[in-house]
Amino acid sequence: MGRKDVENYLFNQLTMVMRKKIAAANWKMNLNWNEAKELITQVLDQNPTIPSLHQVIIAVPFPYLDMASHLIAEHPGFAIAAQNCYHKSSGAYTGEVSATMLASMGIRYCLVGHSERREYQQETPAQLSDKLQLCFSQAITPVFCCGEPLTIRESGDPCDYVRNQLSESLLSLTPEQIAQLIIAYEPIWAIGTGKTASAAQAQEMHLAIRNYLTSTYGSVIADAIPILYGGSVKGNNADAIFTNPDIDGGLVGGASLNAVEFSAIIKALPQ
Ligand code: PGA
Repeated sequence: MGRKDVENYLFNQLTMVMRKKIAAANWKMNLNWNEAKELITQVLDQNPTIPSLHQVIIAVPFPYLDMASHLIAEHPGFAIAAQNCYHKSSGAYTGEVSATMLASMGIRYCLVGHSERREYQQETPAQLSDKLQLCFSQAITPVFCCGEPLTIRESGDPCDYVRNQLSESLLSLTPEQIAQLIIAYEPIWAIGTGKTASAAQAQEMHLAIRNYLTSTYGSVIADAIPILYGGSVKGNNADAIFTNPDIDGGLVGGASLNAVEFSAIIKALPQ
């Protein structure tokens, strides 16, 4: 299939389906078993119904994936994600978890390339590209994270930096795969710092990402991809961030550890 065929095919599939608005929680390495159970239960209680165009994704530590999946099983609109998977499919990699394992437990989403993993685990663009391929091979939707450090924000070209992150890791994906991706833009200087990109800064970057996707894959695919903002999203700033046309929700760290805060963020998703 050529690019035009793919576009036509996707156009038919997608014209009826608008881009989902997504509130994604990233718990990182927090909470014990009972706290995790309690938090999911509270979030479910506070959000008994999720509009059909909305999706809530909760990325929990590996040991909680099964328990969390069972808790949300009867709650349409909720899904559980892994925070990572390994860049090899199987083998002698002690302590690692493969996309195949995740899929075999029914996990349908996985974060890929979070800045903390790029920094602390030295994850490379080539490894991230392999992770994306492995996720797609298992029908897992990757949430691909990108974002610039403070030095680039202050004295470089942040849009160019993020475009490079995308092109380095997405290059090997087919247009059909790209169309199923979720992207999370998370400026590193805003993660866990209490500093949020202004709504204008976030929208400018999201538009740059959308324009890059349009010029590389065409507008049908670019318009189908949810682009989330991450970096100190809270209940009291989510509204201002989410009202921008190219921002399709948030990837939320700290505030997702509190049911009231995270529920306010879910409720701030545009209708
Ligand atoms: P934060 O983290 O909301 O605590 O800034 C976001 C993230 O790292 O995904």
